[in-house]
Amino acid sequence: MSETPLLRLDGIAKAFAGTPVLVDLDLSVRAGERRGLIGPNGAGKTTLINVITGAHQPDAGDILFRGKSIRRLPPHRRNRLGISRSFQILSLFGEMTVGENIRNAILRYRGLHVSPRRLLRRLDTIFTEVAAVAEMVGLGRALQERADNLPYGMQRRLDIALVLAQQPELIILDEPAAGLSAAETRDLIAVLQATIGKRTLILVEHDMDVVYALSDRITVLDYGLVLTEGTPAEINANPDVRRVYLGEEAA
Ligand SMILES: Nc1ncnc2c1ncn2[C@@H]1O[C@H](COP(=O)(O)OP(=O)(O)OP(=O)(O)O)[C@@H](O)[C@H]1O
Ligand SMILES: [Mg+2]
Repeated sequence: MSETPLLRLDGIAKAFAGTPVLVDLDLSVRAGERRGLIGPNGAGKTTLINVITGAHQPDAGDILFRGKSIRRLPPHRRNRLGISRSFQILSLFGEMTVGENIRNAILRYRGLHVSPRRLLRRLDTIFTEVAAVAEMVGLGRALQERADNLPYGMQRRLDIALVLAQQPELIILDEPAAGLSAAETRDLIAVLQATIGKRTLILVEHDMDVVYALSDRITVLDYGLVLTEGTPAEINANPDVRRVYLGEEAA
């Protein structure tokens, strides 16, 4: 028997107001794999992330994490199991500092925000952890900066720091390079290369340089269906993919 995938989606369907967005979708991601997820605007990529993380309930199908169904678990329970995501639109607390944003992510993930006793016992290590996470994404010297004072590229990195702060087994990033300049995008690729390590990654991204640099395999979604799946080289050479997706970029 082959190993149990870390994440398996089995026959997922989701419609909004009668319009199908995900259609009988199967997806399997191995532990440690880095999976790119691409497809045209409206293909259902963010919806798929929402179904995995529990923001949306699927109409049909199941979601298995380490072989166990998580379909009925609320988002915070899935988060504690080791699934952490970033959002397509930045979700930082702008008026808080970099350090406070990271600390907040750590406290929430550990449930320490509702347990002052445990929090007090952990206080020293939390400051060390906050500094370490900031360092990982190159924000070590910006801990006291207000998040909304950071340049946009740095805000994107902070957003990723909030995901990493939770030490997730499965990292899901929804368009981490959106709005970045070419130079910022190169820096982001380097930061992700250096920080993801052995964790499993699902990366939704339109910038193909980012997708190719970070993915072991790529899944192409089109109209809520898996159009194809393959290595970066296979996807790059696939005429259907070029037509529905990469063609748009070349045009
Ligand atoms: N909460 C919602 N209510 C109604 N329709 C929705 C909702 N969320 C998404 N949709 C619709 O579902 C379809 C898929 O949207 P989704 O955001 O998953 O696409 P996407 O692949 O992430 O696109 P993009 O690349 O533009 O981010 C779109 O037609 C969108 O309008
Ligand atoms: Mg999206």
